[in-house]
Amino acid sequence: MVAFDSSKVTVVFVLGGPGAGKGTQCSKLVKDYNFCHLSAGDLLRAEQNRDGSQYGELIRTNIREGKIVPSFVTLKLLENAMTDVLKTKSGEDKGWRDGHGRFLIDGFPRKMDQAQLFDDEICLSSLVIFYDTTEEVLERRLLERAKTSGREDDNIDSIRKRFRTYKNETMPVINYYEGKGKTATIDGSGSIEEVYVVTTGVIDKVLASTTPKQL
Ligand code: C5P
Ligand code: MG
Repeated sequence: MVAFDSSKVTVVFVLGGPGAGKGTQCSKLVKDYNFCHLSAGDLLRAEQNRDGSQYGELIRTNIREGKIVPSFVTLKLLENAMTDVLKTKSGEDKGWRDGHGRFLIDGFPRKMDQAQLFDDEICLSSLVIFYDTTEEVLERRLLERAKTSGREDDNIDSIRKRFRTYKNETMPVINYYEGKGKTATIDGSGSIEEVYVVTTGVIDKVLASTTPKQL
């Protein structure tokens, strides 16, 4: 049983190493296409800081160690957020009429079990955008971001651990969707604008194939 009907709700997963530019590109897509952008990392940080959360400590230690938080927590947070957004954005132009919706889910699925659980129980995804770049570029961006992000995991120790988790756990997810013809690999090394031009090409195509004309 899936929670949301994929003929109405379009889900695009956005992946790439830490610092690949996922959040930056998603913010631009939100403005131009009225997507709802859900960052799994942001949802986890919000839950970690929520008074009375029983998962705060579990989330904090995993994030600091660059490890994946147990998937049931992240899946539940995503499902709850999608339910709320479908209510609040219901009826809006550009993709939200008659129970339709369009979501960018950023930093998810980070691990194979998350991919399978989401597709089977929440909503069948349409596409994975994979921002590909080198660890040198990622490290440089993250250390720059560390000056202002206030994130506990933007330090060289956590960054190295996040790279390892990404290689071991997340690359198999990207390859799995690649095998199904559902991964669009985009070179994430260029400027924000250069990457965005390629991104909009990919998004235009996926929306043309999933959205009925009148929306
Ligand atoms: O995507 P972001 O860099 O904000 O994620 C920060 C951290 O949140 C990850 O390093 C990981 O510890 C946790 N996370 C997770 N599962 C996800 C997304 C993020 O455990 N699907
Ligand atoms: Mg992010």
